[in-house]
Amino acid sequence: MSNFDHHLILAPIRGVTNYIYRNALNATFAGADSALAPYIVPVASGELNQRQLADVEFSKNALETTGQVLTKEVDQFMQVAHIFKDLGVKKVNLNMGCPYPMVANRTKGSGLLLHPERVEKLLTTIKNKCPLEFSVKIRLGREDSSEIKKIIPIINDLEINDFTIHARLGKQIYKGEVDVDSFADCLPLLNTIPCYNGDIKTVADYKRMRETLPSISRWMIGRGVLSNPALLAQIKGQTFTKETYKSKLFEMHKLITEGYLELDNAKSDFLAKMRGHWIYLRDVFEDDHKVYKKIKKARSIEHYNDAVEWIFEQDIADRVI
Ligand SMILES: Cc1cc2nc3c(=O)[nH]c(=O)nc-3n(C[C@H](O)[C@H](O)[C@H](O)COP(=O)(O)O)c2cc1C
Repeated sequence: MSNFDHHLILAPIRGVTNYIYRNALNATFAGADSALAPYIVPVASGELNQRQLADVEFSKNALETTGQVLTKEVDQFMQVAHIFKDLGVKKVNLNMGCPYPMVANRTKGSGLLLHPERVEKLLTTIKNKCPLEFSVKIRLGREDSSEIKKIIPIINDLEINDFTIHARLGKQIYKGEVDVDSFADCLPLLNTIPCYNGDIKTVADYKRMRETLPSISRWMIGRGVLSNPALLAQIKGQTFTKETYKSKLFEMHKLITEGYLELDNAKSDFLAKMRGHWIYLRDVFEDDHKVYKKIKKARSIEHYNDAVEWIFEQDIADRVI
């Protein structure tokens, strides 16, 4: 653990990796060195979702957290960056990877990757005016991995040195294989060493990627952590027995549920929110199918608590130990 010198970042998964989750992870399994928060979408009227803004507030976050913005408009990006600054946030990230057609067809997220001239204008202005440290998260392209080759010179010229590549195409959404070869092809072209993101689900995956990409020292991991909250700690060399795993998970789950129930406006959608967590968390248990079925059937907080009591009597799966 002590001689582990790579940097592990909790990836943003909208609806799941909010500050309540990030703090609960940090207080129990730990292992993340920092986190990127899920994106905020500014709208033309200028009104911003207060709950999303509050999520990145410095005083609420135990883990160093970068705020993220999904926009193609420089004014909107700057508006959020200034608010982040007032909230004590240290860094802001531009989302150039969101794959959903509703977003990408409007030249946002991965849709920007088809328009390098627009990217250049946007990034140049942000670089000149941004009141915070600035980073970018992108994919290899929207339709084709050649698209990133037109973005790289812009990143180099602007000396953007905090840069994460999700090694997929926008059109893949979150499915299909990651294209590690195309990621590796970018490395000699870049003046800065990027952060790798995509499909690290086990310690073995991490070790394999580390061997394949020996120059990389920053790794962003999302769904792998959600499905096994011990993953980052395990990558750093920590081991758990099924008993210690279960008690950490119990504590983490308690912190998450208490966090939601303390928020008045979250009580009404508590069950939906917890289902969002269990879509992934089910994988911790041997019979993941039955676990998720119990959660899905719960129609009240009382039923939910009964389901959780049952779940924590079940076996932890060998795959997460
Ligand atoms: C449900 C879901 C929501 C996501 N939300 C965001 C987001 O808000 N911002 C972002 O940059 N990426 C988002 N992502 C992408 C992840 O951060 C990450 O890039 C992707 O899942 C690949 O990494 P992984 O295989 O380690 O999960 C989301 C992914 C999923 C599946």
